[in-house]
Amino acid sequence: MKLADERGMTTVYEPAEDSRLLADAVLDRIDGGRVLEVGVGSGYVAARVDSETHADVVGCDINPAACARAKGEGIEIVRSNLTDPFAADSFDAVVFNPPYLPTPPDEEWDDPLEYALSGGEDGRRVVRPFLADVGRILRPTGRCYLLVSTLTDIEAVVELAETAGLAAEQIAEESFPFERLVVLKITQKNT
Ligand SMILES: C[S@@+](CC[C@H](N)C(=O)[O-])C[C@H]1O[C@@H](n2cnc3c(N)ncnc32)[C@H](O)[C@@H]1O
Repeated sequence: MKLADERGMTTVYEPAEDSRLLADAVLDRIDGGRVLEVGVGSGYVAARVDSETHADVVGCDINPAACARAKGEGIEIVRSNLTDPFAADSFDAVVFNPPYLPTPPDEEWDDPLEYALSGGEDGRRVVRPFLADVGRILRPTGRCYLLVSTLTDIEAVVELAETAGLAAEQIAEESFPFERLVVLKITQKNT
């Protein structure tokens, strides 16, 4: 099996429409506080939050090449699987543009670009554990901003949030020929 860089492909996700929709939505809502971007990729979203708000920004990614690239943008970076290493009640906002493309098992590549794009068979393989834990690291009045696509089944994602004791509402959207992208604002249920 050839890895992404052997196929002549970049191993870090380049900012695209989803990155820009998420950045624009959060910049309207984040003014300061401690902010984590999960799956920081190139650092585009985190760098905009860092330079256009008063927030104290940390990024994390499972891909070491993404961590190096985002660090080069001046962002504090932790290499991690999702929210695993972060302490409880430690962020005012958590931002995530996850891998969400539904991908049949026989079309998966075991490489960093696949980690940036594939959400497994139902598109929710990464979103599922993220939503199960994000409430733990958010402060009681904290907010999570999650990019989702109709390809990922937005209602199913909202149900995953509710199962984790969270409430989700749509705050931004953009339509494309094959999908509609949505930003969900996710809060602890009783805030
Ligand atoms: C769609 S890309 C988004 C990149 C960037 N935030 C943007 O919006 O342009 C998804 C990112 O999530 C990262 N990722 C995938 N699975 C992860 C995991 N389990 N833990 C942390 N990061 C992960 C990928 O490496 C990739 O950088």
